[in-house]
Formats: sequence, structure tokens, C-alpha cells
Amino acid sequence: MAASGPVVLLGCGRLGSAILEGWLLTETVRPSDLIILTPSEKPAAEAARAQGARINPPLETLRDARCVVVAVKPAVWREALAPLLPHLGEQAVILSVMAGVTAPSLAEGVGPWPIVRVMPTTGVARGRGVATVYAADDQARALGRALFEPMAVTVDLPDEAAMDAATAVAGSGAAYFYAMTEALARGGEAAGLPADTARTLARATFVAAAESAGDEPLDQLIGRIASPGGSTRAGLDVMAEGGRIDRLMAEVVAAAVRRNRKMGRN
Ligand SMILES: NC(=O)c1ccc[n+]([C@@H]2O[C@H](COP(=O)([O-])OP(=O)(O)OC[C@H]3O[C@@H](n4cnc5c(N)ncnc54)[C@H](OP(=O)(O)O)[C@@H]3O)[C@@H](O)[C@H]2O)c1
Repeated sequence: MAASGPVVLLGCGRLGSAILEGWLLTETVRPSDLIILTPSEKPAAEAARAQGARINPPLETLRDARCVVVAVKPAVWREALAPLLPHLGEQAVILSVMAGVTAPSLAEGVGPWPIVRVMPTTGVARGRGVATVYAADDQARALGRALFEPMAVTVDLPDEAAMDAATAVAGSGAAYFYAMTEALARGGEAAGLPADTARTLARATFVAAAESAGDEPLDQLIGRIASPGGSTRAGLDVMAEGGRIDRLMAEVVAAAVRRNRKMGRN
């Protein structure tokens, strides 16, 4: 990995802005090393500019770039990246955070530069993201890890096929937990709680549970709350009956994986 040189962020939308904020928060990339390419003005880019980042400079400044982070929508990446390629030096690595665009299709559009795919969550903005990394090239993988580890729990994937499943678990998972929280609140309402009270209780419980989730193995955490013959155990038994919670989550993840694969083919 080149130890220095600009990092180019191509696209400063929802995820691009989150990455930018995370880099600045965790001091992963020096502001003076940041080049941001964005068609329209973005608050995160302007905040970075105030600290020394360059926005839309002449493309000749990309010559020493160590990395181009492609954070545009999959439908436009070819036209967005093509103008940059003639200006990149041989040290550059292409880092894609796009869902569903495979390394072989990137390689076909990119040419000789090593490729690393990283699938981060927007929690990187607060230095608390989750990221999965896949690269066939060791140096590209090391660079991907170096750019995301300071702001995300970062996991290497041994093969690219696992990226869609990792995206379905880590990228979509928070939405599934929120949906479960809503369902818990509706369960409380059905059992007689006022709607607002049920929602407040469910959300606060979800937040507290999330804070403890990293402390111990999950089955031990469950065991702390669910004593044999108690009320929590009665509820857990309903969830587990006939394997229904496992089956539900398997179907949920499988549907997201199918959609990721389909989007990747577009
Ligand atoms: N959002 C997430 O949580 C998430 C998570 C994992 C992966 N991803 C991936 O991240 C990528 C971006 O997603 P997003 O949610 O951030 O989308 P988004 O908010 O629509 O951001 C895409 C950005 O790309 C910019 N753009 C378009 N053409 C460009 C060009 N030629 N040069 C430079 N920038 C250009 C757009 O600029 P304008 O605003 O000026 O049009 C827009 O701000 C997608 O490929 C997605 O699969 C997103």
C-alpha cells in the first residue's frame, strides 16, 4: 500500500458523505489528502473543504492518488469513473463500495488497477460502522482495511460470492432490528399497553440490548434474562417453536441476497 498520496472520493451522497465524515472523525485520512469529486455541493464535502480537502480539482491532481473510492450508484459507475482513469498512476487502487457490482465487472471496466470491494454501513460516519472487505489482491485488501478499520468493525470475506450475504446481514440488519422493535411494540399494544407506551418501552429496550450485545456470547446474554420456567422463556419458546424464528430470518436474508444479486446483474 502506498503510505501517502491523495484518496479520491468519487460520489458524496449518503454513503460517500458518511465515509468522509468517518475519515475526518477518526483522522484516518488527512483532509489535505482528500480529493472529493461531486457534481453538486454537499454539506459533508464543504465541511471537509474547510479543513483543507480539495473538491473537483483538475483531474491531473489524481496522478499520485493511492486510491479512488467509487461511491456512486451502480448504474452510473462506468461513466463516472472513465474520465478519471487516464489520469491515475500505477500505484492507484480502485475501492468500490457499490452493492452488487462484482470485481470481474469492475476489472473489465477499470483495466489494470487492483480492485477491492468494501461494503460499509453508514455508521462509519460516527466511527461505529460495520464493513466487509473482499479483494483478490493482498495490497488492495490491506488498503481497504486501513481505510475502514478505524471507523468500522471490519471483516475479510474469503470469496466474493459471500458479499451479497454479508450485505444482507450487515447492511440491512439494522432495518430488520428496527422492524422487530416495531413488532414488539405492536405485541405490547395487543397485550393492553397504550401505543405510545409500548413504542417507548420497545425502543428503549432495543437500545439497552444493543449496548450490551458486544459484552458476552448472545446465548449467555439471553440466559441472563430468561430463567427456566419464567416469562421470557415462555416468549422465547414461542419464537423457537418449529424453528420459526430461524426460518423467518433465513427467508428474510435470502430475499435480500436475491435482490442484491439481481441488482448486481443490472
Ligand atoms: N446508502 C447506503 O447505506 C449504502 C450502503 C452500502 C453501499 N452503498 C452503495 O453506495 C453507493 C452510493 O449509494 P448512496 O446511498 O450514497 O447513493 P446517493 O446518495 O444517491 O449518492 C450517489 C452520489 O453519486 C453522485 N454522482 C453521480 N454521478 C457522479 C459522477 N459522475 N461523479 C461523481 N459523483 C457522482 C451523486 O451526486 P449528486 O447528488 O450531485 O447527483 C450522488 O450524490 C451505491 O452504489 C450503493 O450501492 C450504499
